Amino acid sequence: MSAPKVFYATTPVYYVNDAPHIGHAYTTTAGDVLTRWHRQRGEKVWFLTGTDEHGSKVERTAIANGVTPAEWCADLVENAWLPVLKTIDAANDDFIRTTSGRHRQGVQRFWTKLKENGFVEAATYEGPYCVDCEEFKLPGDVLTADDGTLLCPIHDRPVEMLKEDNWFFRLSAFQDALLDHYERHPHAVQPQSAYNEVVSFIKGGLSDISMSRSSVSWGVPLPWDSEQVVYVWFDALLNYITAIGYGANTNTPESERFAATWPADVQLVGKDILRFHAVFWPAMLMAAELELPRLVFAHGWLLVGGEKMSKTKLTGIAPSQIIDTFGSDAFRYYFLRAINFGADGSFSWEDMHARYTSELANGLGNLASRATAMVVRYCDAVLPEPGPYANADRALQDAMIAAAEGADAAMVRLDFSAGIAAVRSFVEAVNLYVTEQEPWQLAKDPSQRQRLDTVLYTVCEALRAIAVLYNPVMPKSMSALWGRLGAVPHLGEIGDQDVRHAGQWGQLPPGAVLSRGDALFPRIEAEKSEPAESVPTPTNSGSGGN
Ligand code: ME8
Ligand code: MG
Repeated sequence: MSAPKVFYATTPVYYVNDAPHIGHAYTTTAGDVLTRWHRQRGEKVWFLTGTDEHGSKVERTAIANGVTPAEWCADLVENAWLPVLKTIDAANDDFIRTTSGRHRQGVQRFWTKLKENGFVEAATYEGPYCVDCEEFKLPGDVLTADDGTLLCPIHDRPVEMLKEDNWFFRLSAFQDALLDHYERHPHAVQPQSAYNEVVSFIKGGLSDISMSRSSVSWGVPLPWDSEQVVYVWFDALLNYITAIGYGANTNTPESERFAATWPADVQLVGKDILRFHAVFWPAMLMAAELELPRLVFAHGWLLVGGEKMSKTKLTGIAPSQIIDTFGSDAFRYYFLRAINFGADGSFSWEDMHARYTSELANGLGNLASRATAMVVRYCDAVLPEPGPYANADRALQDAMIAAAEGADAAMVRLDFSAGIAAVRSFVEAVNLYVTEQEPWQLAKDPSQRQRLDTVLYTVCEALRAIAVLYNPVMPKSMSALWGRLGAVPHLGEIGDQDVRHAGQWGQLPPGAVLSRGDALFPRIEAEKSEPAESVPTPTNSGSGGN
């Protein structure tokens, strides 16, 4: 009997040529919100992230810094890439390093199988290569500068001309099968623009491509040719299966994990690496007779001055530069709320500060502190029994059902901003309800006692649902709110609350003991929100070119 399929989501494995910036944190945050959401639907979930450590780019950076590649990677992973997961409050289940033994073994077994299956053969590569992309460039991929130099359009840097004997993967053999797959699975690549790009690339014709490098030494050695290492992308992509046990011996816990987890349900990538994930990767999987991922989602870029924020161009903003001021919850909220997932977006301190203040500090934070303060004051902190419900109360109950349904539908299709909007408009409705019902006036009139109880119960029960629905986005503050609502002894931990049942009225029981606490989202003065060192504020797109 096989266990139900695990909901499996991945981020790219990031290059450790430098420390992470908010672009990397963006992908990981999206994956974290998505997987927390699915956990709160009661699903078994596996969320993987990690680091891509081989190849020329990392090797050259290490050498330029006077250390070995292995030392360079160990240092950056330990002191930058792992800590950033804590900084953004990611609850990943695993972290794969492509230099680990489990990965190396899986990579070697995978390529041995592809060679046995007849999809690997010796050939010579001659053409341009961008080390920053670690990519063999096709004629249409490069720009020609005025002086004739060929440039990588993503990095604005000259490509290198390579000529080396290596081993090729017979990508061309999969052109028809890939097209057929995407015809049958029109939602397997999203957004639609990414799907269209992938299909037209495949229709344009697929050429065989080098799967090994003879002039690079920092990588996984080819099992059948110790002079060569696996081309870094064809090593890195395999992390998605090696991390869950591909290549492990049969009848081990690792091989069972693979059976329960693959294929991936969602593979999150930036649009810069779409082709690798939606053309090369599925072809490799077909060649190995493995299932294809159910969805590759290519999100947009965080821009600086209208260009992609990048380690290579040193335009990165470290997540801690924002989180030290606003906290991890506001960071997570802001990027998923302010940018449509799939589109490009820019970060600005002004916008972050404005949304933080109006939506979190004044909107949700103020609602939570008003509600708990009133129950403490008027009801000795004990949640009262509601009396008969009036129309306004019932309207709010209906709005709560709609918010929960709307949020779930949006979150599972990775429309994070719509999912957040569904909850946010409910927060606004509850705030309006408080303003209109004026519980502070009811409290002055003893004959209105029952009405006061009903209003306070209604607001706290609404906050119960808000906490559950926002928990995947803002786990720290929603868990604090959950505690203040006195929910834990009655309902258990917030992470165990099913988001699909969040809209059901009447879960927080009368008698729960509430408490006041510090502001969930303390006010931040505008001048204090910008860190001392100067950071680009790309509110206006369009840099001067160059
Ligand atoms: O490409 N905006 O690693 P990488 C949004 N190792 N997302 C961004 C971003 C930006 N400005 N900059 C980076 C690699 N990202 C390979 C991947 S996977 C088998 C190997 C995010 O360090 C986004 O997810 O260059 C992008 O695709 C990824 O980081 C690239 O990270
Ligand atoms: Mg990159």
